Amino acid sequence: MSSTSLDDAARRITARTKAVVAVHLWGLPENMDALATFSARHDLMLLEDGSHAHGATWRGRPVGSFGRAAAFSLNGPKPLSAGEGGFVATDDTELYYRVLLHGQYNKRCRREIPADHDLALYAVTGMGLKLRIHPLAAALAHAQLPRLKDYLAGREAVAARMRRALRGVPGIDVPHPPSHAGPAWYALPLRFRPDKLAGLPVERFLEAVHAEGAGEADLPGSTRALGDHPLFHTPGALLPGYADHQSPAADSFTTARRVHGSTVKLPVWHRDRDLHLADAYTAAIIKVAEHHKDLVK
Ligand SMILES: Cc1ncc(COP(=O)(O)O)c(C=O)c1O
Repeated sequence: MSSTSLDDAARRITARTKAVVAVHLWGLPENMDALATFSARHDLMLLEDGSHAHGATWRGRPVGSFGRAAAFSLNGPKPLSAGEGGFVATDDTELYYRVLLHGQYNKRCRREIPADHDLALYAVTGMGLKLRIHPLAAALAHAQLPRLKDYLAGREAVAARMRRALRGVPGIDVPHPPSHAGPAWYALPLRFRPDKLAGLPVERFLEAVHAEGAGEADLPGSTRALGDHPLFHTPGALLPGYADHQSPAADSFTTARRVHGSTVKLPVWHRDRDLHLADAYTAAIIKVAEHHKDLVK
């Protein structure tokens, strides 16, 4: 998080801006010093998306404990997985009641929202939908909690090994989190530098990496500048009544777009017995980067 990007964010605040959302992408904690100061200075709510970062820390404090509330996905291969579902962490009672009304209705809302609270009126119906995690999925994630620390230590060791192997490889920048950050390493995001690889397109690079057998090396899909998703600029066909706008201008979200277009992510494993996979993936990246000239011919 550079001060330039925060200056840019400050310029974009309008009367309708409500919150700053810190998304701890790929398990690397955001700079929470900078974001807490920024949101306080501009009187904005600080929220966190810890979906990639269960157990990650910033200055020893777990992500998800900085904002007024934090959302955590538990789907797919997340550092803590339930197969599907997620949870919200908050120590704000008012917000907790609202989360309850989204996730539950009737009994739990009636039990937990005080009868004299304004929102108790809605306890029976909640928000009209029941968006709660399946109890068995919640139990799966809960059972993994005691092992999360070990999983994360395993991921840290594997990520360190992969970063070491990739250091100095032409056209590939490895992430360098600050020493006071404790990443969860949901993935190892590499910055692809075509300017150092004779202009090789990232898609061609990935194709060659796949051909080397590293089939789970991937480009981020949905994880992009939010404003570029049609849901946010052209929602009309899906949500009648919502106005369509022009899609963001070509010179908007330049940093987010550049990061999205130049990220190659690798899986990170947590068990010793998977070290050979980590080594095979880094070997594939090194081989393709070193032979990039053959691919641009
Ligand atoms: C950063 C981030 N936030 C939120 C989500 C949404 O999670 P879910 O699919 O559990 O709703 C995802 C999806 O993987 C994600 O990557």
